[in-house]
Amino acid sequence: MKIDIITVVPDILSGPFSHSIMKRAQDKGLLTVNVINLREYTSYARAQVDDYPFGGGAGMVMMIEPLVNAIESLKKITQYDEIIFLSPDGETFNQKTANALSLKKSLLMVCGHYKGVDQRFRDHFVTKEISIGDYVLSGGELAAAVITDAIGRLLPGVLNDETSALTDSFQDNLLAPPVYTRPENFRGWRVPEVLMSGNHKMIEAWRQEQSLIRTQDRRPDLLD
Ligand code: ADE
Repeated sequence: MKIDIITVVPDILSGPFSHSIMKRAQDKGLLTVNVINLREYTSYARAQVDDYPFGGGAGMVMMIEPLVNAIESLKKITQYDEIIFLSPDGETFNQKTANALSLKKSLLMVCGHYKGVDQRFRDHFVTKEISIGDYVLSGGELAAAVITDAIGRLLPGVLNDETSALTDSFQDNLLAPPVYTRPENFRGWRVPEVLMSGNHKMIEAWRQEQSLIRTQDRRPDLLD
């Protein structure tokens, strides 16, 4: 899968994909992430990409022209399944969306910055608008990193244990059960006995039950 990300602050995205599972996904050739600097596509002086809002008001607005220059240039190389704009007023991201996006071949993500982006860009180029939660970030970059990570780990072959994404929280609308490792006894706090029993059927039943209890307790809305 290929994910291209357009941003005015590419440095923010130099870290998140260079380590751990995202790095492994790229090293294995299962995921390609390209970070594109929007300033390389502007024809305005001093690499300007934003301007004052028509009608007045606070903050700057990203101009449509550099964005369209970038997209039209990138589209010559890649046919995108979705052009995603990251914005707090988009549809809220969840595991279901991550699962669906992980089946696509190529995605283009556009990170908003400043007060927003010229609405004509959203109207005529964007196919999907995503928010990662009801709070406002300084830009879409961290949201793009979150979404890329959530998608990337779902790609077949990325995780060592093929089943481990399937047992993530939110798959099946259930939170994951508690997990334990050595030592078996720490300061008198013992690991639940069933996990030491070696009885895989009983362990699986216990995990299912714990998932349900945890979901009822913390996220009853998921069971509706
Ligand atoms: N840009 C600013 N805030 C955001 C959010 N919550 N989700 C996605 N993009 C954003």
